[in-house]
Amino acid sequence: MTASRPMIVPVHNDYSAWQKALHWTVVGLVMVQIWSSGGIERSHADHVAGLEPSRLDLFLHEIHTFLGLLIGALVVLRILLRVASKAPAQDRTLHSAVRIGACVNHWALYAVLLLLPVTGIGARYIDFETIGPVHVLLTRILFLLVAIHGAAALWHLLRRDGVAWRMLPSRLLRGR
Ligand code: HEM
Ligand code: HEM
Repeated sequence: MTASRPMIVPVHNDYSAWQKALHWTVVGLVMVQIWSSGGIERSHADHVAGLEPSRLDLFLHEIHTFLGLLIGALVVLRILLRVASKAPAQDRTLHSAVRIGACVNHWALYAVLLLLPVTGIGARYIDFETIGPVHVLLTRILFLLVAIHGAAALWHLLRRDGVAWRMLPSRLLRGR
């Protein structure tokens, strides 16, 4: 019987459990941010129309602020962990343009995730008219970066080069 093809990266070339947990926690929190931002929009529309915003929308406003700050703190932690433990080595068989692109995408994601809470606080507490549009523009940049990032992860999965598995639980790897 032939042995199954050993394709996945070795475990030492994996992100740490903390890095993975933080990655997927931030992904989940960003989803909640997109949902809770609807409450901000609706409460502002009610305010403009002279209506009382619903309690749910006001609550979502607070959730958005709290989770936005939490994301900022978790991203700082991620960057510290990243600097301390380094990322797994890049796949040298990939074209250098792809490797540079991945690096730019990752650091741009970190930068946008740090700027979003800063501009969010600015929009809410300092100057909504000026800083609000910057916050919204940053959300569009985040969506674009995530779309590229997700597409790249899918491409790696289809290529079966093991890169996408570096951010998934190791026990899934062992089962393969
Ligand atoms: C990583 C963290 C954050 C993410 C991913 C995020 C995401 C979003 C999204 C998707 C919107 C809707 C944009 C649209 O109108 O299409 C929004 C709006 C808004 N967010 Fe955040 N946000 C974050 C942090 C914060 C924080 C910490 C605050 C602080 C209060 C905040 C305050 C606001 C405000 C005031 C708006 C309305 C802006 C406007 O309509 O001009 N955000 N955010
Ligand atoms: C809000 C959405 C997301 C954000 C903000 C995000 C952010 C990041 C960042 C900053 C890194 C770099 C880690 C480092 O080296 O320090 C990373 C790596 C990674 N992410 Fe995401 N990510 C998101 C969604 C996703 C999704 C949906 C997938 C899978 C479909 C994914 C799969 C991966 C993989 C496989 C890596 C490791 C890449 C490598 O080792 O070169 N991410 N992510």
